[in-house]
Amino acid sequence: MCLRFTLYFEDWHLFTMTDSEPLDKTLAEGDGARGKKSKRKLKKEDAWRPAPPKDPFALLDSLPEKNQQEIQKALHLFSMSPTPPKTLHEAKRYTYQFWDTQPVPKLGDNITAHGPIIEAALSVRQEPYSLPAGFSWDTLDLSTQTVMKELCTLLSENYMQEDDNTMKLTFSPEYLQWLLQPPNWLSQWHCGVRVDANNKLVGFIAAVPADVRVYETQMQMVQVKLLCVHKKLRLKRMTPVLIREVVRRVNQQGLGQAVYTAAVVLPTPLSSCRSWHRPLNPQKLMQVNYPGLRRSMNLQRALKFFHLPEVTKTRGLRPMTGEDVVGAHSLLQKNSSRFDLSTILSLQEVEHWLLPRENVIDTYVVEGDDGTLTDVVSFYAVSSNVLNHPVHTELRAAHLLHVTSSATHPADLMEDALVLAKSKGFDILSALDVMDNKSFLEKLKFNATDKSLHYYLYNWMCPGTRPDKVGLVLPS
Ligand SMILES: CC(C)(COP(=O)(O)OP(=O)(O)OC[C@H]1O[C@@H](n2cnc3c(N)ncnc32)[C@H](O)[C@@H]1OP(=O)(O)O)[C@@H](O)C(=O)NCCC(=O)NCCS
Repeated sequence: MCLRFTLYFEDWHLFTMTDSEPLDKTLAEGDGARGKKSKRKLKKEDAWRPAPPKDPFALLDSLPEKNQQEIQKALHLFSMSPTPPKTLHEAKRYTYQFWDTQPVPKLGDNITAHGPIIEAALSVRQEPYSLPAGFSWDTLDLSTQTVMKELCTLLSENYMQEDDNTMKLTFSPEYLQWLLQPPNWLSQWHCGVRVDANNKLVGFIAAVPADVRVYETQMQMVQVKLLCVHKKLRLKRMTPVLIREVVRRVNQQGLGQAVYTAAVVLPTPLSSCRSWHRPLNPQKLMQVNYPGLRRSMNLQRALKFFHLPEVTKTRGLRPMTGEDVVGAHSLLQKNSSRFDLSTILSLQEVEHWLLPRENVIDTYVVEGDDGTLTDVVSFYAVSSNVLNHPVHTELRAAHLLHVTSSATHPADLMEDALVLAKSKGFDILSALDVMDNKSFLEKLKFNATDKSLHYYLYNWMCPGTRPDKVGLVLPS
């Protein structure tokens, strides 16, 4: 196994060490072109010639998915350009070639002031940033079904997977419409990269408008989302070009700041939060070997430990409807002022982000006896394909978006949210330790994972803040 692995690794490594031409060619030709070539009959007189070098992508594609992943991991380990650090400790020894050129606070700086790092440029660069030969920018028109499908494919095949290659996220058009087309969205902020030869979509980054309050300052800015580079184009510095280009397009609209999250440590986290998981269907999670489930617990114990009531307890709890938008808006506004980082949602945005959409977002409200809304809880749906499993093909996770409670205890409201998520077929509910979530995570048997999510601001400096002062979850 080790020997075979080394051989494949060398082929791939040599290939990536050459310039980008063969890479473009391979992505351009696609599998069809390779297939035709291999079918071409070898002329008799050429039979003695040594075989030409094998196409490394064909070689890679012919391997089982698991081996491909191992090669990718090895590449990341041995690469000349290491991947960004996962912890602040690692970050101290890492050199940020790109991020050190950007208007973001330097790691380790003691920041006490609040304000932009660079003032808005008087003139914004008109022409897009250059891509290597063979690649072009494409502003994605997500109202076209085929384009939306292409984006779903790029993300489903190349976005994050579980490290052990047992799960792959899936993106639906409905989910992407929700994520990328909130009120006042702009299509030029849906920024794609294609291979010229066959039009294949191989890179993407998006920005959506958001009014954000950072400490005492309220700003119109963007949330940056869904940064993704095709796995065969990784470690080639496409990310800095995508980021520069989306920043240019955002600057063109007169905006200079952005908020974004990442699992990696970049300069400089405003806050670093931890992800927690609450099993809803422990049997299935155990069967698919879901990471983070307590290994010491047998099925019987897990079923008992994670058991939930069949019905909810909170009086007046019901799904949100269009009539609740004004009430929910006022509850969220009041709540958001308690945090150092939060979004200021308009009525239209509350309608967009919170009104229930099948398989995308679920929101429940509590209506008091006098008809006023007192509490809101919402979670969005993220599905994954379970790979190579004899029984299960899909895993459904609910991610907590908002909990705002003024009459019900947050733990009681959340327990009901767990009951509802389970009844809707979710297998697990994830939450960050932001807002007041810490008050119920342990009590309701959430498990802390080793995964952190870091919050960042582009072109804004301010002191860092604790997770419980972060009042904002950015779905991605
Ligand atoms: C994230 C991803 C685009 C990075 O691509 P890559 O090929 O590894 O990196 P590139 O060679 O293109 O660029 C490297 C630069 O991008 C930066 N970078 C890497 N991941 C980043 C992220 N999530 N956000 C911002 N910058 C990032 C690196 O720090 C590095 O810059 P540096 O020299 O200043 O350290 C790619 O791994 C990917 O598509 N992953 C799956 C989707 C995903 O995880 N998206 C991010 C969600 S937060």
